[in-house]
Amino acid sequence: MSRESDFYLRRLHSLLGIIPVGLFVTQHLVVNHFATRGEEAFNNASNFMGNLPFVLFLEWFIIYIPLMFHAFYGVYIAFTAKNNVQRYGTFRNWMFLLQRVTGVFLVIFIAWHLYETRIQKALGTEVDFDMMANILDNPFMLVFYILGVLSATFHLANGLWSFCVTWGIAQSPRSQTIVSYITIIAFLALSVIGVQAIFAFV
Ligand code: HEM
Repeated sequence: MSRESDFYLRRLHSLLGIIPVGLFVTQHLVVNHFATRGEEAFNNASNFMGNLPFVLFLEWFIIYIPLMFHAFYGVYIAFTAKNNVQRYGTFRNWMFLLQRVTGVFLVIFIAWHLYETRIQKALGTEVDFDMMANILDNPFMLVFYILGVLSATFHLANGLWSFCVTWGIAQSPRSQTIVSYITIIAFLALSVIGVQAIFAFV
């Protein structure tokens, strides 16, 4: 691949991680949080999202196509990246490694989650509060879902930091430190929203 096309693909990968994939993940966690208000509140919120006009078009162009590009190109980056953790044990090197580890784990988690929910819905199963409660009744699945949600919130929040650096939004060491604090708060807030929603089904 030429250096120029590599540059544009990396930029596209970076942008899609935030718009639309990051925005979608945030919205998804917020809708799931309706579960903390009870079964009916969750089913209403989930039905509203599932019955939006042009829902198939929205799903393909806002979720599946951008996510597939980000995930496939992400796997390529993850396995060709030079991880420096052993040589430089700094905070940023660990974040760099964790970004890749969570990305690869997310491929497995998202594939399984889609199979259990969206594909089952396409096959005619009712996907609602009861179905998620059944899935999360299994302790193994409960841990798997908590790890999946925490991987997604970490990957998104840490990705927001590298996005700001990639696009020149945070260039000086001081602005990068400020963005670090902002993204740590984003990680904590999204994690609380996501994990509270999971426990609402248990
Ligand atoms: C939950 C869905 C996902 C979201 C919200 C997301 C979001 C992001 C964001 C915002 C970035 C930062 C872009 C930048 O550095 O400028 C990023 C980077 C990255 N993502 Fe994802 N991502 C997701 C899923 C995945 C998956 C499934 C993989 C597969 C391995 C992956 C692999 C990567 C890699 C390797 C990077 C680092 C890119 C670099 O440092 O140049 N991501 N992601």
